[in-house]
Amino acid sequence: MNTYSLDNFVNECREVISQDGDPVDRVELLVPAMYRLLNGDTEFLKPEHFKSDPDHYARNAILIEDDDSFSLYALVWSPSQWTPIHDHGTWGVVGIYEGALHEQNYIRTDRAGDLAKNGIVLARGGIIVLTPGAVTSFVPNPDHIHLTGNPNSENRVVSLHLYGSAMAGFNIYDRPGQTRKWVEVSHNES
Ligand SMILES: [Fe+2]
Repeated sequence: MNTYSLDNFVNECREVISQDGDPVDRVELLVPAMYRLLNGDTEFLKPEHFKSDPDHYARNAILIEDDDSFSLYALVWSPSQWTPIHDHGTWGVVGIYEGALHEQNYIRTDRAGDLAKNGIVLARGGIIVLTPGAVTSFVPNPDHIHLTGNPNSENRVVSLHLYGSAMAGFNIYDRPGQTRKWVEVSHNES
């Protein structure tokens, strides 16, 4: 039996984050850790981590490190729930626990600059379908811009999201308006 646990995972996160390294170095080390977590002992997932919300996908905190250097959430996507187009402003590692999460990518084609709020032109990129056990990751600079969600009409999706911050907000994009703005996002404490 694979006994890799949440404690093992959190210790790996702390070890990686305590070392020098840019976001790419961090996700290179933590993608395999997420894969081990998904394929290890998932008894750490309790009923409170599977809460859903009829109005939007639910973010259920599993752990937010005291200094906000990383956070781990279980996201529950009821049928037909999606994010807006967004970026994260940090690195992240996402693993799928249940169901099939769809990701649609966008590519910036303007030269308005990393800090621009206007004049942002997005081209549609590829679509990825992530199924249980799959792990994906992203890094900022340039921003990773996408939307994710659950197109299934009957079944939920549950995914684990590790971020290099507390992830209390993100940039959302208005593609026709060519703008973006920072919004706070809520979560359920466990
Ligand atoms: Fe995202």
